[in-house]
Amino acid sequence: MLLAANAAALPDSFDGRGGEVPPAVTLKAPASAIAEDIRLWVEFEAPDKAARQAAVDAGVSVEEIKPGAAAGFASPEALERAKDAGLKVKTKVSLRARFGSLDFPEKDAVYHNYKELESALRSLAASAPDLASMISIGKSTQGRDIWAVRLTKGARGPQRSDKPGVVFLGTHHAREHLSTEVPLLIARHLVEQRADAEIARLLETRDIYFIPMVNPDGVEYDIEGGKYHMHRKNMSKNADGSTGVDLNRNYAWGWGGQGASSRPGDDTYRGPSAFSEPESRAVKAFVEARPNLKVMLSYHTFSELVLYPWGGSDDAIPDAKALAAFKGMAGEMAKMTGYTPMQSSDLYVATGDTCDWAWGAKGIFAFTFELTPKSMWDGGFYPGAGVVQRVFQANIRPALYLVDLADDPYRAAKEAAAVVAAPSETAKGAAAQ
Ligand code: ARG
Ligand code: ZN
Repeated sequence: MLLAANAAALPDSFDGRGGEVPPAVTLKAPASAIAEDIRLWVEFEAPDKAARQAAVDAGVSVEEIKPGAAAGFASPEALERAKDAGLKVKTKVSLRARFGSLDFPEKDAVYHNYKELESALRSLAASAPDLASMISIGKSTQGRDIWAVRLTKGARGPQRSDKPGVVFLGTHHAREHLSTEVPLLIARHLVEQRADAEIARLLETRDIYFIPMVNPDGVEYDIEGGKYHMHRKNMSKNADGSTGVDLNRNYAWGWGGQGASSRPGDDTYRGPSAFSEPESRAVKAFVEARPNLKVMLSYHTFSELVLYPWGGSDDAIPDAKALAAFKGMAGEMAKMTGYTPMQSSDLYVATGDTCDWAWGAKGIFAFTFELTPKSMWDGGFYPGAGVVQRVFQANIRPALYLVDLADDPYRAAKEAAAVVAAPSETAKGAAAQ
């Protein structure tokens, strides 16, 4: 129902108990159109990571990696800079020519726009008031509440808990709609299957949060007008008149370093300062108010990868025991999903991402999943409704696994022997967004 301008009424049974659900707000501004999209989809020769990194550093948002080549979005200026740095273009096509005329297909009705997500979370919270509650973690640039649903026995809304906590995040990047659906469906699954012995145990002993849409303004813009806009960033107005900051370059760990553009018009623009954006600040405040959080999973699309820190540096994280735990967890979750595990920076170095901050600043075991599909030509950011159930099913086990491990993530260290695949040169069809 992405196109429906639907503000579904609250279910009658919802009583807003505990006052943790603030009233609906009037938006400060509608999602506004961005100037004519002049980005190019560029495929270039990339025999190794150095070639990918040169493109990233020139401001190309690298999306897809195949043997010997890579591809991504580039502004004409970024493409010129990349060429000056030696990038060899294989093919290039205007984004508007290739994607701009896609009407929002009826078959994608299963995806949730902002209002539909809000209403789905309200219904979920109302359906199980003894274990589910809903909170706003803050407001987006345009004034939308960023919603979280909390699942745990015995604590509601913002109440403190000492149980080990886990948080699942979706849609830092606007066009990655599947990354909203997966955490929403996992939250629903836990509520619906609450009688299952293992799930009942986890609901009893863990404090579980889902924030399926970190970037609601970007999502609404991405689907505005019945067209996909291929929008990645939030909807901040930049000093030069361009729109949007890349929220996954705006966190404070290593902010301002490599792989995060200082040019406001670029897709990977890091923002004027660390945590300059209301959305990343909301996540920060949410995390800082909950010292019981031990594990984080930030869903993105696409390319089917399981990524662990660092992303901003080629170095391994210094704590050997923690590294073994990270590798153990990544390896296990890769087996469960069929995705490829690797250190984030093996894809390319990019600073300021969510998980580097969560681990570096807060000691939270933080993973990035790049969900289905594997490549742009398998559907890229818009793989259709047909994949939603399958991708959700593939992601239940790793989610439960992380929730279970939250009491002591170091338990996973013994899994470190699990084969962690070599970096992406060998990972066929790995992409990056
Ligand atoms: N593809 C995602 C992004 O561009 C995640 C990248 C993982 N982090 C990294 N530093 N490589 O935001
Ligand atoms: Zn992403």
